[in-house]
Amino acid sequence: MTDLNTAIGPLRLKNPTMLASGIMDEDAGSIQRMIELGAGAIVTKSIGIHPRDGYANPTVIELEHGILNAMGLPNPGIDLYGKEMNVLKKTEVPIIGSIFAATAEDFVTLATKMQGLGAAAVELNVSCPHAKHYGLEVGSDLSLVYDIISSIKHHVHLPVFVKVSPNMTNLVEVAQTIENAKADAIVAINTVRGMKINLETGLPILANKTGGYSGKAIKPIGIRCVYDIAQTVHIPVIGVGGITNGEDAIEYFMAGACAIQVGSAVYYRGPEVFHHINKEIAQWMRKHNYKKLSEIIGAACR
Ligand SMILES: Cc1cc2nc3c(=O)[nH]c(=O)nc-3n(C[C@H](O)[C@H](O)[C@H](O)COP(=O)(O)O)c2cc1C
Repeated sequence: MTDLNTAIGPLRLKNPTMLASGIMDEDAGSIQRMIELGAGAIVTKSIGIHPRDGYANPTVIELEHGILNAMGLPNPGIDLYGKEMNVLKKTEVPIIGSIFAATAEDFVTLATKMQGLGAAAVELNVSCPHAKHYGLEVGSDLSLVYDIISSIKHHVHLPVFVKVSPNMTNLVEVAQTIENAKADAIVAINTVRGMKINLETGLPILANKTGGYSGKAIKPIGIRCVYDIAQTVHIPVIGVGGITNGEDAIEYFMAGACAIQVGSAVYYRGPEVFHHINKEIAQWMRKHNYKKLSEIIGAACR
């Protein structure tokens, strides 16, 4: 028997495939569907304190090897989204609440509310704009990242995952800060900053001009980030970026990930992608005589 169980610190998963934040997770109905189709855990879209419309259209462009998006974190705000979370309280699959804010205080408010709504963990999206330094992401201010994590750990008993961006050169330092602040896991990676220009108008296509690139093309970037982080810290790493099939997932496990998230491939292969990827992982393991995921995790780091 091939065993696909895995653990992210204190969190147990029946299989290692998780829905990535922001992909068809607006409402309880579509989340429930992905659970029924095999997802081992769900990450909600990133939720802030107040409702937010996001950027003007166009916000998403499908490119040859991936998807470029600049949604601008549209969301109904934590109080309204709570109604969707309430519907999901009965499910046995862990629901991880993704939250974003510009200050430690707002992050604590959101994490406390997620705990009250029954979330199994919180995932911090620190790729959002800084409150004081225009143009900077929260995640690039290491003392703010430390403050956010330690304040949440002080007030909330949920496991805290921190999602990092590949758009910074000091990723190893960021990972060390996250571990020092006592976070429970690191999620790598968020989208890669990119741009697409319309040759006829000579202008960027996205209303926000730049966007985040995801899908197949970013897998080598994600693999490199997971490998570098896994070499640096002792806390678990969750891999995300360009995972479309079972072999992509195996590659992330070998780089050091103990679980993986799937985003753009839900568009490419449909919500059944979780069932397919789990089947493909198990087939690969059987063919190579592995019985447990733990035998593969970190193979490349030795
Ligand atoms: C349309 C879209 C919306 C996204 N929204 C969020 C979000 O709200 N919060 C977040 O942390 N990441 C968000 N992401 C990033 C994904 O969770 C993931 O990190 C990224 O797409 C890389 O994985 P993939 O190549 O499997 O898509 C979004 C990605 C896409 C394509």
